[in-house]
Amino acid sequence: MLVSAYFSFVASLSTAPLALAAAKWGNSGTGSIVIGEEWTIPELLYQVLPVVVSPFPGGTHAELVLNLLDVHNQRLDMMNANQIDFMVLGCNSPCIQGIANPVAAAKMSVQEQMVIKIFLYYDQVEYDVFWQMVSDLDVPVYLHTRLDAQPILDLLYAHAPLLRGAPQGFSAGASAHIFGLCVNGIFNRFPDVRLIIGHMGERIPSDLYRIDTEFSHTKTAMKQNTTTYFKRNIYETTSSDFSTNLLKFHMGEIGLDRIMYSTDYLKAYPPDGTA
Ligand SMILES: *[C@@H]1O[C@H](CO)[C@@H](O)[C@H](O)[C@H]1NC(C)=O
Repeated sequence: MLVSAYFSFVASLSTAPLALAAAKWGNSGTGSIVIGEEWTIPELLYQVLPVVVSPFPGGTHAELVLNLLDVHNQRLDMMNANQIDFMVLGCNSPCIQGIANPVAAAKMSVQEQMVIKIFLYYDQVEYDVFWQMVSDLDVPVYLHTRLDAQPILDLLYAHAPLLRGAPQGFSAGASAHIFGLCVNGIFNRFPDVRLIIGHMGERIPSDLYRIDTEFSHTKTAMKQNTTTYFKRNIYETTSSDFSTNLLKFHMGEIGLDRIMYSTDYLKAYPPDGTA
């Protein structure tokens, strides 16, 4: 079933109640809620590449690891310092999908109350049952980035392995998934679906004119164009993409009411996103 490699939805939905139960609601009055934030468990720490260091000024790998594992200590201090009231945690990529043995993966997902995220696109008709359930429950789906599966990494990035993650591979993979949902008619069949995507829309709103113009010359199953889906079905977050110029441009393209605040804590330095 190997098609591609990001997934996903809502490790956060299953982990958020844990955070809620453990931490007292700290309403700073500014109402900031962030949703694209990273965390992991000791059993999965081996997945954190030793070359990745904390994005905090002068940060080290050891600090990154401590921050990834932490829920109640420096994370809460950081939230207080940045007027963040509520944080939805997502498991650091590749998380449980990175476990090749399906039995072991299923066991850990139950143990940790995580959703198993598998290598597939949710844009095929067989997943209509999923989108129907999402519509019935009236909940948003968060589609987060992750590392591609190894065969894809080998094909695409062997020439320059540094491109595998946030600089290129994450957005390339996630935007292919989001486009798949658009062109395969998910938002036509399920017009109430709300999809949340991070990292300034995985670059798509920066290119909407070209995308929609190209599609308009082609016969597709789309009843609306991608811009319309962005204004009706899709929300983006600011996670780890703290460019004011880009934010202003996206406000013009899709509107401020489609853009949500997030920091990508642990992969980004929150004060840069709060300014
Ligand atoms: C997208 O569709 C909307 C609504 O039909 C239309 O107003 C807009 O011009 C389209 N955008 C592009 C770039 O084709």
